[in-house]
Amino acid sequence: MPEQQPAGAYGGGPAIPAKKVTVPEIVQMKRDGRKIAMMTAYDVAFARLVDQAGMDIILVGDSLGMVMLGYPTTVPVTMDDMVRHAAAVSRGAKRALLVGDMPFGSYQTGRDDAIRNATRFLKEAGMDAVKLEGGHEVVETTRALVESGIAVMGHVGLTPQRVAQFGGFKVQAKSAEAARVLIDDCVALEQAGCFSIVIESVPAAVAVLATERVRIPTIGIGGGVGCDGQVLVLHDALGLFGEFKPKFAKRYADLGPIVVEALERYGREVRDGVFPDDEHSFSMKESERAELERALSEPRRPKKVV
Ligand code: KIV
Repeated sequence: MPEQQPAGAYGGGPAIPAKKVTVPEIVQMKRDGRKIAMMTAYDVAFARLVDQAGMDIILVGDSLGMVMLGYPTTVPVTMDDMVRHAAAVSRGAKRALLVGDMPFGSYQTGRDDAIRNATRFLKEAGMDAVKLEGGHEVVETTRALVESGIAVMGHVGLTPQRVAQFGGFKVQAKSAEAARVLIDDCVALEQAGCFSIVIESVPAAVAVLATERVRIPTIGIGGGVGCDGQVLVLHDALGLFGEFKPKFAKRYADLGPIVVEALERYGREVRDGVFPDDEHSFSMKESERAELERALSEPRRPKKVV
């Protein structure tokens, strides 16, 4: 009988086997026809909750540049940003497979830089695998990483690090020709050793055709239901990020207003002097308090100098 973690302290969902998810298991899920649930996380608190909810994969996405650091795109994100957040996630998540997202500039400058930076994710941040964006142009780098012993997830379609070239966050592979390139890219990434591929913002029919042509799982985000799994950005799914809402970003909760309401109540209670009440304060023995008050009512005796 596999070890189980209890149904969530925060929710009553089914108990999920507590055994750590591995790369071969993710590949096997496609063979078994089991869908893969992946979610991003960027800090220890949410990593615990996402893990507890039974996600198969947690991606520490470079989307953290937008949802955590307030940049307009993912381009400014650095390796140090990623490693710091990824390490926090690995301290919170015990079960899910952990994937660190290689930020812009960390793998485009050559094979050695890519290996050095990917290695940081594994050694300093406790990640199990890395993800990098691109198709045929990153095949050689992907192969070098895999040959170095690093598990790699690909990412094709709308690759946000190229947002300037795309002219915005736009649906990709809409023409037959562009779709053909994307499908060929998926096959090339599989041959280079990727264990799975994220397909972002493409017509659902294109994602289905790509999914049929590779033996590794495809993980869709704006790729329709035909992919082998799905991923969302946590802050989109929970309603914690209002600035930009792509069509595919389904909101499973609207936590923004709940957070604001709780903080407003806190502010009111502080201003009204009702927080903290006795329940949230520390008490002192009555005898110690009486002794202190007596001592304070007498003038302080000068310390004896010997
Ligand atoms: O950075 C990210 O969160 C991602 C997902 C959208 C796949 O790359």
